[in-house]
This record gives sequence, C-alpha cells and structure tokens, in this order.
Amino acid sequence: MSSHAPIIIVGAGQAGVQIAESLRQEGYGGELLLIGEEPHPPYQRPPLSKKWLFDAGNPVSLAIRGAEALARRRIELKLEARVERLDRGSTTLELASGERLSYSRVALATGSLPRVLPVPGATLQGVLCLRGIADSAAIAAAIRRCASEQRPVVVIGGGFIGLEVAAGARKLGAAVTVLEGLPRLMSRVTAPIVSEAFEQLHRSHGVQFVFDAQVTELRGTREGHVAMVRTADGREFAAGCVVVGIGVTPDDRLAAEAGLPCERGIIVDECSRTADPMIVAAGDCTARRLADGRLLRLESVQNAVEQGKSAAAALMGRERPFYATPWFWSDQYDVKLQMAGLSQGYDQVIVRGDVAKPAFSAFYLRAGRLIAVDSLNRIPDHMLAKRLLDNDLSPTAEQIADAGFDLHSLVRQSA
Ligand code: APR
Repeated sequence: MSSHAPIIIVGAGQAGVQIAESLRQEGYGGELLLIGEEPHPPYQRPPLSKKWLFDAGNPVSLAIRGAEALARRRIELKLEARVERLDRGSTTLELASGERLSYSRVALATGSLPRVLPVPGATLQGVLCLRGIADSAAIAAAIRRCASEQRPVVVIGGGFIGLEVAAGARKLGAAVTVLEGLPRLMSRVTAPIVSEAFEQLHRSHGVQFVFDAQVTELRGTREGHVAMVRTADGREFAAGCVVVGIGVTPDDRLAAEAGLPCERGIIVDECSRTADPMIVAAGDCTARRLADGRLLRLESVQNAVEQGKSAAAALMGRERPFYATPWFWSDQYDVKLQMAGLSQGYDQVIVRGDVAKPAFSAFYLRAGRLIAVDSLNRIPDHMLAKRLLDNDLSPTAEQIADAGFDLHSLVRQSA
C-alpha cells in the first residue's frame, strides 16, 4: 500500500459525498477520489418518488453538491465508473473499464438496490422500479403515457415508494391500482391506524387497492410491453405500466466478495468501521452491529449523513459514534408523514390529534416507555418526539392521551 495513494470513496450518493466533505472537515489534506456509477454528480434521492416525479424536474435541482463545489474542496469526482472488484491484498480497486486504482483507504457507500419481483414477466418493457434519476424520469414518462392513453398504472407494493408513486400518478391523471402483498399499507413500519389513514387518503384521491395480493405473473403484448398483471387468486389487472416498489436490498457485493463480513449489509460498528481497518462503510449498504449484538439496518438520508460523518472520522483514526434518534419522512398528496424512532416491538399506540383530517400523531410505547412517534401533518409533534427520544424522556400513556397535557413541558423540565 502506498500512503500517498488516495482515499477512494465508492458510491457518489448522500453517504459518499458526506464522507468526502467530512474528511476535509476532519483535516484530511491528501488525495480524495469519489467514484460514481451514474452520469450525475451526487444528488438527493427522496424527491425522485415525490415532487420531482410529477414536476418533470431538472436533475440540477436535485444536486447535493455540484462538480465545482467538490473541486473547490479538492474532491475528485469520477463519474460513469463502476468498481467491479475490491482487492484487499494489493489495496487496489478494479473498474469495469479494466483500470486499476491503488488506495490508501476505502469507504464503501454503494447504497441499496430495488428488490426485483420474482415472477415471470418481470423484465417486460414498462415494468419499472425506482433507484436513480433515469428510473424516475422513465416512470414519469410511462405514467404520462398511461394518463394520455387512458391505461391504468399498476403499482406493486404499498410501501413508501409505491404510495408516493401512486400519489404522483394520480396528480398526473392516471388511474392507479396498488397491489400490496400484506393486509395493510406500510405495515413494515407503521401501526394499523396510520395505514388506515393513508388508505383512506389514497382512496379519496381515487386509488384502488388490493391487499393480500400475490402477483404470480406479468403478461406482455406481442411487442414485449407489459399489458397485464395476474394474481394468485386468478384475478387479472390491465396495466399500461407497472411500477414495482417492494423494498430494497443493500448493495454489499464488493465487500462480500472481498471477504468482509456481511449480513443483509456490510457489517459495521457504531463508528462505521468494517472488519478491515483500511475500510469503512456508510449508508444503505451497511448493517450496524449495536453494543447489545443486534444488527440495525436503516435506509434513510439521516443515516447516510450521520454514518458518513463517523466513517470520515474513523478514517482519520477518531471515534465518532452516532446515536441520534432515527427519523424518516414521506410526502403523499398534501400529507407529510414524519417518523421519529423505531416502532418495531411496540405494545401500545396512543393517538393525539384528528385522525379524520388527517392531522394526528401515533405515539408508540413499549413497556410504558416511548419508542417512536409517527406524525401526519403535525410537524411540531415530530420535532418534540425527536427531542423526547434523543433525551430518553417518556411521557406516560395518560399524559399522551390527555389532549390538554403539554408534552413540551417534559423537555422544559429536563433542560
Ligand atoms: N407483492 C406485493 N407487495 C409486496 C411484495 C410482493 N411480491 N413484496 C413486498 N411487498 C410490499 C411490502 O409488504 C411493503 O408494503 O411492498 C412494500 C415495500 O415497502 P418498503 O419496504 O417501504 O419498500 P419501498 O417502498 O420499496 O421503499 C424502499 O426507499 O423510500 C425509501 O427508505 C425508503 O426503505 C424505503 C426504500
């Protein structure tokens, strides 16, 4: 290994750019190379399924940092380059072009890949999933075509991506049917009351739902374009296009092939270190080993940013673990869903606000302690929830249920 070789960051997304910039903030003065597969400088992904989808946006508006801003920090950007192999023995990376690059240290920020629908017909034209700018543009174009030809859009998966795309498709005037494999929407992350509020919201905008839907086959036209979706109960749904949003898998291929421990993601510690002292990893591609041994996988901008900061510190030999409360959000029509904390394992849900509007928050408790809050159009509740959870403060179930009780007083008291 040459100590003059650059630090190479693989993946020019939210986590990758954060690692690069944090390295400069940490005082790293050496060469820094940020490698991305796509033709675009680092950009934000969340708008791709939201406003950008139906606004026919310009890629520049999504930029996290333009090429000039990176150049000013002496971060070299290598786009449209795919790293095929990480060779830890010779401390080199091999690109798809055959080029080999020596590294002094490596940061993996390869993100996640959309899960592919495991049924016949999944590769027909007009079957689309969302990962990058090009996918979002293709989905928007397909939806517009469906709207103008009066053909239905079929969305498979009633999670964040599926529902945001469904809302976008309604805005663009297309008929939409969502096929969800489980009995309710967003069940991976929310309580039934939140799922029901979103189902109601979408139905009021004309979206049709099929629950417990097991897609068995997609059928195409003679030209190879999708035309129909079949489910296990024998039902058939005509489709002008199909958008698949059935979750993501961490892209840990490079790390796994290089012999680094992976388990649904590259295993890192709370400082974003892998098992190799020369290699850190951050963002969607990781699974974090917690002090109690559990593995935590988070897919969020916040996680990419915070792990990116700790990864940069780790590359400089410093420990900067991150413990902040996880948070997520989704925009659907005029409803903003904000989630603070992780609700898995809750045993009680208490609601504050107006469910019908909807403008309410669901407070999740486990053994009497607050673990998470989902807020629908209740931004102050979300801010409060983050403060309560960050400071390990918990209102009682009675206090939450009492609309007259000022929950902010708990934060003030502890200050
Ligand atoms: N048929 C129908 N529905 C399915 C199938 C299937 N074969 N497989 C999974 N589903 C459903 C799940 O039950 C779930 O409701 O698809 C939904 C997937 O939802 P998410 O797990 O939220 O995944 P997705 O919507 O693809 O979002 C991926 O992108 O926005 C980010 O961080 C967000 O983690 C999220 C990621």
